[in-house]
Parts: sequence; C-alpha cells; structure tokens
Amino acid sequence: MRNIIICVLAWGSHFTLNAQSVRSIVGAGKAINPYHYTVVKKGDFSKASVGSAHPLASMVGVAMMRKGGNAFDAAIATQLALAVVYPGAGNLGGGGFLLGRKANGELIGIDYREAAPEKAHRDMYLDKNGNAQLNLSQAGHLASGIPGTVAGLFATLPYAKLSFKELVQPAIDLAEKGFAITEREASSLNSTRESFIKNSTRPSALVKEGKWKAGDTLVQKELAATLKRMQKEGSRGFYEGETARLVVEEMQRGNGIISLDDLKNYTAKLRNPLEFEYRGYQVISFAPPSSGGILIAQMLKMIEKYPVGSYGFQTARSVQLMIEAERRAYADRAEFMGDPDFYKVPVKTLISDAYIEQRMSDYTPEKAGSSSTVRAGQIKESEETTHLSVMDEAGNMVAVTTTLNNGYGSRTVVGGAGFLLNNEMDDFSVKPGVPNMYGALGGEANAIVPGKRMLSSMTPTLLLKKNKPYVVVGTPGGTTIPTSVYQAIVNLVDFNMNADDAINKPKFHHQWLPDEVMVEADFDGETKKQLQSMGYKVTNRGGIGRTEIIRVLNNGKKETVADKRGDDSVAGFMP
Ligand code: DON
Repeated sequence: MRNIIICVLAWGSHFTLNAQSVRSIVGAGKAINPYHYTVVKKGDFSKASVGSAHPLASMVGVAMMRKGGNAFDAAIATQLALAVVYPGAGNLGGGGFLLGRKANGELIGIDYREAAPEKAHRDMYLDKNGNAQLNLSQAGHLASGIPGTVAGLFATLPYAKLSFKELVQPAIDLAEKGFAITEREASSLNSTRESFIKNSTRPSALVKEGKWKAGDTLVQKELAATLKRMQKEGSRGFYEGETARLVVEEMQRGNGIISLDDLKNYTAKLRNPLEFEYRGYQVISFAPPSSGGILIAQMLKMIEKYPVGSYGFQTARSVQLMIEAERRAYADRAEFMGDPDFYKVPVKTLISDAYIEQRMSDYTPEKAGSSSTVRAGQIKESEETTHLSVMDEAGNMVAVTTTLNNGYGSRTVVGGAGFLLNNEMDDFSVKPGVPNMYGALGGEANAIVPGKRMLSSMTPTLLLKKNKPYVVVGTPGGTTIPTSVYQAIVNLVDFNMNADDAINKPKFHHQWLPDEVMVEADFDGETKKQLQSMGYKVTNRGGIGRTEIIRVLNNGKKETVADKRGDDSVAGFMP
C-alpha cells in the first residue's frame, strides 16, 4: 500500500510525495527523507547554505558541511546528487565551470567543459550540399562532446575536506533506493519520453510503462553502479574500464564518435578567473571558453557611467540603456569568443575602458539601435543547465554552473551505465551564419576542432564588497545566462534590491541577433509600450533563467534565495 502525502510548497506549487517507505539517505541527526521533502525558496542562514535546482541536492550539500566539509565538499556532493535527482541538467555526461574563492582570497576556476572528440571536424554537421543538419548536432549520439563533469569533480577534490567516497554516497543512495519525483519532473519526463526512446539504444530508467506522476519513485540502478565504480576507482571508474567501455559501445550502436582514447585523455583545466570592478564592487567571473565573464564585464562597464539607479527599475530609460549594452556585447561574442587554447580571445581589449567607450559612442538614448549597423567592434591587435551557489562558515564561496546543454542533453542514455550524454556539440558554430539552438551565431573563433571546447554562456559569478565575500550567483538559460547575471547585479547594486527581488523580478533579453527584445510575461506593460515607440521589436517569452543567489547581509547572515521559476530550493544551517 502506498501512502500519498500532498505537500503544499512555497510559491503555491504542490506535488504529491510517495512516503511508502521512509529511508533516510544521509546519516545520523539531520536525516534527509527522499520521499518527503519540501521546496524552500529562501532563508537567512548564519553558518552555511546552498541553493540549487532541487531540494534534495541542496540538502545533501548542507549535510556534507554539517559533517565537517567546506563549500567545495558541498559543491561536489550537490552536483553528484543533482546528477541523480535532476536528470534534465544535473549530470555525469555533461560539463561545467566551477568558480571558487577560498576564505584566504585564493581564486579557483575549474573548466570541465566538454571537448570535441578526436574524430570531430569542422564540417561534420554539413550535408553534401553544405546545409547544416542541426538534428545531428542537437540530439543523438553525434551531438555529444567528451563529458567533463567527472574530471571537474575530481579536480575540485583537493580543495575539499571529506573523501570522495563520502561525498558520492548520498547520490548512490538516491539512485539505488530511489526518490520521489516532483510534478515538474514527472511532466518533463513524460514529454521527453519519445525522444529518449528514439535516441537511446537500450531501455532506461527514465522511461516507464505509462505516464510518470508526481510522487512516483525514480530508481536508477545502472546509474548507481556507475557512481559506485567512481567511488571505488576514482575518475578512472568513469573515464576508463567498464564505464568507458559502456560509453563507447553506446557510441558504436548509434552514430557516435567518442572513443576510449577521447575519454582517457580528457582533463579538466584550471583557468584564471576574470576580475573587474563595477561601482566599487569587485566582480569575479568565468573566462573563456565561457563568454559569460567577458559579456557581464562589457555590459556592466558600458552602463557604469550612467546614473542607472536614478533612472528607476525597469523604466524605459534604464531598460533601453541596458538593452543597447547587451546588443553590443553579444555582437562581440559571435565574432571574438571561443576556446582560448585554440583561438586567441582578445579578453583584455574587449573589457578595456577605451574599447568600451568606443563601443558606446553611437548609443542614442530613446532610440532603438540596429543590429545591422551595430556589428562586432573593431579590434586592433596581433534551456537546460543548472547552477548551484554555496557559501560556508569560513567564508569559502563556490559557484558552479553545469549542463548537458538543453533539457536531458542528447536524450541518449548510455546503455548499462544509466546516465545521459550531452548535446553540447551544438554550442560550436556548426556553420558560419547558422544559429544554434539558442539563436547564437559564431564563426572561426568557435569552429569545431578535435580537442577544442565549445563556447559557453555559463557565468558562475562572485561579488566582493571591500574585499569581503558578498554574493555568489549564477543561472542556466543558454545565451540568456549573462543577461540574467548582469541584471541581478544591476538590481542589487543600482536598485538596492534584496536578493529575492534581484533574481525574481521580471527580466528582458537582447542578444544582438535576432534584433528583438525578449521579455518575461510579467514585464512592465507601460515600459514595453515605450520601448516599442522607440523602435524596438518586443516579444514575450517564457521564464528567463533559474538563478540561485547567496548574499551576505550586514549582520553576517547568508541571505539565500532559489529562483521562483522551478523546483529550485535552498538549504542551510545556523549554529
Ligand atoms: O554552455 C552553454 O552556454 C549552454 N550549453 C547552456 C545551456 C543552458 O543553459 C540551457 N538551459 N536552460
């Protein structure tokens, strides 16, 4: 007999949970019940906190800190838990970026972005007439880059305090014993069902007879076995041996090209974070192969000389200025950004004061610019990702954005290994002038080359105030990611908002091409009309981003907020 409990969640959403057998997944004291949990949208915590896309994952992160771990332990354990409880974007088969700041001020950037396999080549998605075949770059075996996440987790381990064995155990339990799925998860698994069947060559735990419903238990035995191999053998338990063999066999059953050597040779890379100032705050963000850090640096610097705060939040005046900064920065993204190990990205120039001044020289207040006249600058020189924010008692700050690309990635579940592969190859420029699934364009800088990492928009970001930890922030959302982070920072700094409003107020997005302003449904109607009368094309779209933010308050507490747009949830603890 199954007992069904109805839980009413914060923000009015609800789902049913199956409390059939209550087993906790994390030990003594603060047990986590995977069949009965609640979405918590915000909290002020004096010790440590986590915000992530799923309540169970946030609770796992906090449990590791209670056990004596730090923010890096929490980031590892939360990502592993997300790979189980949030299969749409949490992952072993994807990649990401971790940005950390240790309490002693040391900055850490770990790039575990997927890379193009050795057999990849620049025209691999063109048919014989030279037409782009986006169906191949966006789904199925050929869409996957070499997964980077597991290498990233092990590259983070030296900064953590607990053993990997301990950090992976909650994820193993969640996969092996199962957990109750939310209504949102049930509905997205149902709507992806046909795509899983089409793109996988073996049955998977994500597809079941009939429809998923809220409260059903999702058990993933094969995924648990993969996690156990990692627990026993470290990263070799993923990149070599049984797991690698299963990935390559999956590739051979489809039309994939990832080889045993591709997996064995993959490494995470340390990247120097990008640092700049905005109105006296120090901003730290991710450098290429993310475009995110450069974009937010450009956009914030472009608006810095204007008194944005006095224009008012979401007035036509402030929005128009911010849009024109977005237009110019995104035009540069298409031209100048790619993997810095393969293409010289002119980072310093792009964020220099002189260049920013020149980029805004043709800005006209109250008149829409045009993306046919605003192109990339002149340089003279030789929807599913997931983000988690963590802060601990010592003052370590960690921001991680990780992804399979869109929801459930390539939709290919590795037969016998139980994890989804990414469809990140679509983030390369498949053909100059052909937009990817987020409408982003690119050229030489982001062309496919074996071993190269595809350009990303992921923007894990930290803010310091007078050199002290202030904010950890980031979000999914494809090309809208830098926009969301940019607007969160402006909301905090220029409009003096609290963390909740900074991420949950309506957003707008312009990415150069298409030449339009996309706005969320609750965007101010009057401002929309005024923008239209200035000459902007304004279109409505669904939610922009799912941001997780932690902000240190004057009393030292960590104001932790999860985006209202999903099942995102915070957890934390007091003394
Ligand atoms: O790295 C990138 O920019 C994309 N693969 C991110 C995709 C994403 O955020 C989808 N989420 N909604």
